[in-house]
Amino acid sequence: MQPLHILEKKVLKTLEKIGEADIEALSRASELSVDQVRRAVEWLQAKGLIQVNTTQKTLIALGSKGVEVLKEGLPERRLIHLLKIGVKDLGQLRSRFKDEQEFSAGLGRAKRKGWIKIVDDNVELAHEPNKLPEEEALEKLALRHNLDEDELTKDSVLYNGIRELLSRPNYISRKVVKSVRITFTDLGKAALERVSEEDEIDALTPEVLISGVWRQKHLRAIDVEAPAPPIYAGRRHPVQLFIDEVREIFISMGFEEIEGPFIQPCFWNFDALFTPQDHPAREMQDTFYIRGEASNYADIESIRRVALTHKDGWRTGSRGWGYEWREAEARRLVLRTHTTSITVRYLADYKPKEARVFTVGRVFRNEKVTFKNLVEFHQIEGIAVGPRLTLRDLMGLLSTFYKRLGLERVKFWPTFFPYTEPSMQSVVYYDRTGKWIELCGMGIFRPEVTLPFGVKNPVLAWGGGLERLVMMRNNIDDVRELYANKLSWLRGSPVCQ
Ligand code: PHE
Repeated sequence: MQPLHILEKKVLKTLEKIGEADIEALSRASELSVDQVRRAVEWLQAKGLIQVNTTQKTLIALGSKGVEVLKEGLPERRLIHLLKIGVKDLGQLRSRFKDEQEFSAGLGRAKRKGWIKIVDDNVELAHEPNKLPEEEALEKLALRHNLDEDELTKDSVLYNGIRELLSRPNYISRKVVKSVRITFTDLGKAALERVSEEDEIDALTPEVLISGVWRQKHLRAIDVEAPAPPIYAGRRHPVQLFIDEVREIFISMGFEEIEGPFIQPCFWNFDALFTPQDHPAREMQDTFYIRGEASNYADIESIRRVALTHKDGWRTGSRGWGYEWREAEARRLVLRTHTTSITVRYLADYKPKEARVFTVGRVFRNEKVTFKNLVEFHQIEGIAVGPRLTLRDLMGLLSTFYKRLGLERVKFWPTFFPYTEPSMQSVVYYDRTGKWIELCGMGIFRPEVTLPFGVKNPVLAWGGGLERLVMMRNNIDDVRELYANKLSWLRGSPVCQ
């Protein structure tokens, strides 16, 4: 048998004592509060030990008009009475009533029943009625409030009287009340035999331990499957959880995490990446510029090489863009538009022959916010440097990364970035929605990017949006929802899959 709570035991015992009952009766007889009884009844019902039948009753009582008439008499009775004391004139009779409606109701009924006759403006009494069923009913109801409608005997005087009164507005009030009948099930009766309130200890307290009572008595078992209210503990934001997952995957693939500031000189966001100074991405409508300018953002030799590479290709084997590079433009500050500014800076600082690094961070673009675009979002970015790395390695690397996220089908196709050659774009297939999702851009950094900083080995590079992956994970189709911080969503989104 499932363990019973002390409240359940008390209710079972009480029910045994008083037979069938409702919640209030159980509460009175058990000295438990109505709330306690209600809870226990719910549990007992769920365990199949008791049965709760709810029935409806219609209770009948005098309405406001009924109470009034009880004192004064029905309008037709008052009319007869007036006739008997000699008031006959219609006008005079009318003046004895509160309102026209009451008077005409009385007059109409008396006439229809043939008690009166109207001759010109005079009313004559034809015959005086005996006590009416409705008068009986009024008196009975005055004595017995709340009559159960179902208990009325059909066609009795009371029944007919009430029916008649029901046709008059506000004479009778009817209200429907629900009543509950609680009884034992067979299982409940069997359980009852094993209920022994006194012999069980309900809670393990210091007193119970010190006195040694626990040796003689039984400890009530706890029902660990009983329903309990959900508890919402503090937790990390779903986007943050996903970022941690991405981190773990790259780290498990031998990568190291790097970081860098949100505000960058154009030099690292654009120039070092061989993005010409008149490139459309550098326009105000795409990029947030910050007041002020950078100083000491790079060593003089690196700046000179980048300048020459833009102009004529320097010693990179390229012809460059063929324009006069301006340092003032490179000093301007921007909110980074991509995290590639972080990886290229890493290359310049460390000039690695071999490396595997990644970064996950916020980027900023001056775009209109829509269901698929935010002004701030996150990118996942990385580079791999090594003597014999090829485009195949890059595709393999990203396929592995996606696979670890649970995405198996990946497609690549050629595209263009100013800083990579060849350049590719990738999409992955998401089974649950049957959609292809655009993921990231990638390629091998051009010599125009790597050689000015003294990096000779091939550098595989990639970068792409994070939010799209989080949306897919959480079955969301409007990116704004990720940051609306609706409590219900934050609480309900899965912690792991
Ligand atoms: N920076 C590119 C973007 O923001 C992605 C990219 C990174 C492409 C590295 C090639 C190499 O879309």
